[in-house]
Amino acid sequence: MSEEVRNMFASISGNYDKMNSILSFGIHHRWRKVTVNEANLQSGQRVLDCATGTGDLAFAFWERLNKITDTLPNQVIGTDFCEDMMIYAHEKNEKIGNAVKFEFADVMSLQYESDTFDISSISFGIRNVDDPKRGVSELARVVKPGGKVLILEFGQPNGLFAVPYKIYSKYIMPQLGKLFASDKSAYTYLPVTASKFPAAENFLDIMNSTGQFSKTYYRKLTFGVAYLYVGIVK
Ligand SMILES: C[S@@+](CC[C@H](N)C(=O)[O-])C[C@H]1O[C@@H](n2cnc3c(N)ncnc32)[C@H](O)[C@@H]1O
Repeated sequence: MSEEVRNMFASISGNYDKMNSILSFGIHHRWRKVTVNEANLQSGQRVLDCATGTGDLAFAFWERLNKITDTLPNQVIGTDFCEDMMIYAHEKNEKIGNAVKFEFADVMSLQYESDTFDISSISFGIRNVDDPKRGVSELARVVKPGGKVLILEFGQPNGLFAVPYKIYSKYIMPQLGKLFASDKSAYTYLPVTASKFPAAENFLDIMNSTGQFSKTYYRKLTFGVAYLYVGIVK
């Protein structure tokens, strides 16, 4: 499955940023801001963003750190197992003097030593990972005790928003994918995986099953279209 996932992201990489903004009506910027706020970054802290794709969350962390103080080399690292996605991260990085470091890594087997980072994160990536529990466990392993693992992922909205969202994701999203990215299948796959992925308490159960967190909680975003999961590392 990993190879299929990698190939799919490679095929949509050129349109990824544009489609993100179209499909989420730009709301993903707000969700990333909530994620960065939750990190409550302090000067000198180190951040690892996994499945970084085109790097937006890694850049958001770097911008916040840079507001607090001059950033250090390699203070923010973005990783992904799809080089084609990271091409666009590299392009953006050049504009800020390559301040963020981007490296190849599979989140299920990170090359970093245990207790290295203050924050690790993954946005809209964990549901694509073959073994999400192993991915969460790796995200926790590389974070120092007391640090945070931040996981942003789609959920399934309930209440009044549920039916319109289902119609939008099942019927409209694939058509928008076809229209703007000439790719209906990827934009069918993405909402289908989101609709089946464990959300809210069910995802916290996965996090807790690793035994690596002293505390876990979530924030529901946009009526449950997305969730931010937080784990404090033991
Ligand atoms: C939907 S994109 C999200 C990109 C970015 N984090 C964002 O928020 O826009 C999912 C990313 O997860 C990456 N990915 C999936 N499985 C992975 C794995 N096992 N290790 C590293 N990256 C992975 C894909 O290559 C892709 O770039």
